[in-house]
Amino acid sequence: MSSILLVVHSAVRWLVLLSLTYAIWRGVRGWSGRVPFTAFDNRIRHLTATIAHLQLMVGYTLYFSSPLIRYFRSNYTEAVRVPDFRFFGLIHVILMTLAIVLITIGSAAAKRKPTPRSKFRTMTGWYVAALVLIFLAVPWPFSPLANRPYFRSF
Ligand code: HEM
Repeated sequence: MSSILLVVHSAVRWLVLLSLTYAIWRGVRGWSGRVPFTAFDNRIRHLTATIAHLQLMVGYTLYFSSPLIRYFRSNYTEAVRVPDFRFFGLIHVILMTLAIVLITIGSAAAKRKPTPRSKFRTMTGWYVAALVLIFLAVPWPFSPLANRPYFRSF
């Protein structure tokens, strides 16, 4: 169960990054010009938040089924001193949860803004902040915090 979830979680990361980057690009483009906030922009705003929520659900399910986290939770005092355990047991979960809260707030706030410009600006600001956190908290092969592959297969 946990190994399937890990493959899914690893793959969905690319959807999260792709949708966020595209939404931000649409946001910057709309914000700097006098273009309407179209139904397509609205769908992108919503889809980005939905993909992030999907990753949140997979992430929390993984959290409660991963042997790594089980070990971390039952041997907290020693495990928290080991960088890999500390990263997945605390840093990753906290930063990613925070990032998805930012996406949720940004998406809801943009929806309620009265003008196209303020919708684009709001969506862009919150989504950029979330993207920075997510980028820092992904265990890239080049990350100084923890390393996992770009793609994981069964
Ligand atoms: C945008 C949100 C997130 C992204 C992009 C993301 C990305 C990743 C990536 C790339 C990995 C490494 C997968 C691998 O080993 O191949 C990972 C591992 C993990 N993630 Fe996330 N994650 C996110 C959110 C979360 C959340 C919210 C949680 C839990 C609350 C979570 C829990 C975990 C756990 C427990 C592992 C390691 C499991 C293990 O090695 O046994 N993730 N995540």
